[in-house]
Amino acid sequence: MTAMMKNSNLAAAKKAKNDEFYTQWADIEREMNAYLEYNPDVFRGKTLLLPCDDPEWSNFTKFFALHFKEYGLKKLISTSYAPSSKGSGDLFAPTALEKMSPGYDEEKSRDQGRVFILEGHDVNDDGRINIEDLQWSYLNGDGDFRSPEVIALRDQADIVITNPPFSLFREFLAWLVEGDVQFSIVGSNNAITYKELFPLIMHNRLWKGATANNTDMVFAVPKGSDISESDKQKADRLGYPEDDDYEYTRLGNSCWFTNIDHGRRHEPLQLMSMDDNLKYSKHKEIRGVGYLKYDNYDAIEVPFTDAIPSDYSGVMGVPITYLDKYNPDQFEIVGITDRGNEYGLKLREYDKNDVPNAGDLNRRAAIKLADGSYKGTYARLLIRRKVAA
Ligand SMILES: C[S@@+](CC[C@H](N)C(=O)[O-])C[C@H]1O[C@@H](n2cnc3c(N)ncnc32)[C@H](O)[C@@H]1O
Repeated sequence: MTAMMKNSNLAAAKKAKNDEFYTQWADIEREMNAYLEYNPDVFRGKTLLLPCDDPEWSNFTKFFALHFKEYGLKKLISTSYAPSSKGSGDLFAPTALEKMSPGYDEEKSRDQGRVFILEGHDVNDDGRINIEDLQWSYLNGDGDFRSPEVIALRDQADIVITNPPFSLFREFLAWLVEGDVQFSIVGSNNAITYKELFPLIMHNRLWKGATANNTDMVFAVPKGSDISESDKQKADRLGYPEDDDYEYTRLGNSCWFTNIDHGRRHEPLQLMSMDDNLKYSKHKEIRGVGYLKYDNYDAIEVPFTDAIPSDYSGVMGVPITYLDKYNPDQFEIVGITDRGNEYGLKLREYDKNDVPNAGDLNRRAAIKLADGSYKGTYARLLIRRKVAA
């Protein structure tokens, strides 16, 4: 093998592994329970598609198969991605279950995806509907969610739930929107500012999930994956020590994105008036100081979600983490600072001949300091009060 081939194999393996993060049962359960609490019939009579998901190891399929009857599901479909397309073809070994199955085909097993279907028939006649009643067959292609056969499955689904490949998150989101389905997917908070995602948030077509917003999510990863030792130790402390099959890592930035309603987004944030914040805010930046006005937006800077004044009627720049508390009946989102002037809210652009940090400031909301220099803020959501105080 030449050095170049070695390198490209290594890159393929690393790339494959970067997408191989398996969601934990407890995280799925917490989030689904929040939807069910808000609407006990959320899954009733529905066809559910779990793409990018192999039930031999994925918790999503196991979870929904176990709850199939209780949730009143009509049909559960999950699809897996071919090992050779993941870049793990050479290392791949089919499970004993697949090998023992009459439909097993060595070549197809490596190069084709599979589709698993549960329709509420007690196939093995053991008195229960669960994962053992799943029927499977090979797909014609590799199970890529963009393939016509998986698109056709999306089009018969009411709801799509998965943790999609991180490297294809934007495409996956566009695929969901195109399919006009209800969905719940795992993603990263970093995606909020993406041009594909933010407009959906702004127009209340997508929102943060109900859980995992301030906590780490732990994921199982194939052994030998490129994960940091400190994340591995943290996952261990969270109750996920390495086992025979997997190592575990945590991602502080992971969250759910969904368009399924839940109670958290209808809870109003309890806030003080602007006067009370000036007197009593626990933040020294606000108490006795007040709110600074941006120089390049007609808005005030609110550096902490709990310092949002309840009675200010203009636009406010708030931390991105406000989304975890966002209630669309209380505030509306009118823009975001990190996407240029896409929302027409900017008052000015800085010229690098006048302002040394113009490039940075033009991406951000800027505050003019007493000495005449400018300071950029972190990315800010621009929000406005919706109801009269
Ligand atoms: C982040 S993992 C999550 C796996 C599983 N859904 C879970 O949460 O446990 C994403 C999965 O998508 C698969 N994948 C990567 N590219 C894909 C594609 N184009 N189409 C379908 N699946 C893909 C990966 O191999 C990986 O198993």
